[in-house]
Amino acid sequence: MLHSVGSRMIRGLLPALGTLLTGAALAAPDAAVPERLAPCVACHGAGTSETEGVPSLGGQMPDYVVTQLFQFREKQREAPPMNDVAAGFSDDDLRTYADAVGTLPPPTRTADPADPALTARAQALVSKHQCNSCHGADLAGRDAIPRIRDQREEYLLKALAGYKSNARPGYDPAMNEVAQELSEADIKDLAAYVSRL
Ligand code: HEC
Ligand code: HEC
Repeated sequence: MLHSVGSRMIRGLLPALGTLLTGAALAAPDAAVPERLAPCVACHGAGTSETEGVPSLGGQMPDYVVTQLFQFREKQREAPPMNDVAAGFSDDDLRTYADAVGTLPPPTRTADPADPALTARAQALVSKHQCNSCHGADLAGRDAIPRIRDQREEYLLKALAGYKSNARPGYDPAMNEVAQELSEADIKDLAAYVSRL
């Protein structure tokens, strides 16, 4: 069931939101993980998102997810439809969903690896700005710092641009500070490279 809904956003979207907003499927705290995640997976895919603008959640750090669900609920991170999705969540719900997200398998790479010139430019940026020191040696995340490898390219672009303009305030200012030093060309190179690792 999970796998059958993952790639079909258009059909999955409306029932998923309806279920969420009425809270029906999500109310039972003891529901099995797959049932709990079904409405989320309808948009996000079962680990790998097939939908433009919707990030993959597979392999994401639960301690990071909890911070973002909190920010969505409090409208500190404005990102429709997640503000509505998280609006009625209790603190326990935030943790329960974050842990459930942590059970999804890491995303599979959806594009060919970056070409050598782009790879060289992006690796120089990664080392200059020490992305690895926070996001982990292979950019797979650690603790409350997100996994970014193999994330969707257009989502990474939006995230980095959002930190740079401060439209997206992080739970911690680190990313907003890092992004001030990135040019638009740097952001394009980083998103293309990181999404194809
Ligand atoms: C109707 C589609 C939809 C549904 C349903 C949905 N999401 Fe989302 N979610 C999105 C979109 C779109 C974004 C990206 C928002 C942005 O930054 O523009 C997102 C972002 C997120 C993020 C942030 C990811 C990151 O890397 O920062 C998390 C975590 C998340 N969703 C978890 C969930 C969970 C848990 C559920 C189920 C309770 C859920 N979502 C249901 C569409 C959806
Ligand atoms: C000092 C630690 C630190 C450094 C260095 C750092 N990051 Fe981050 N990064 C974070 C934190 C913390 C967050 C989560 C912020 C939030 O709440 O949105 C984050 C979030 C992100 C996100 C959003 C992920 C998502 O799923 O929405 C991207 C993309 C990202 N970083 C890329 C980079 C890149 C590329 C570099 C190097 C140019 C970098 N980061 C350097 C700490 C760091």
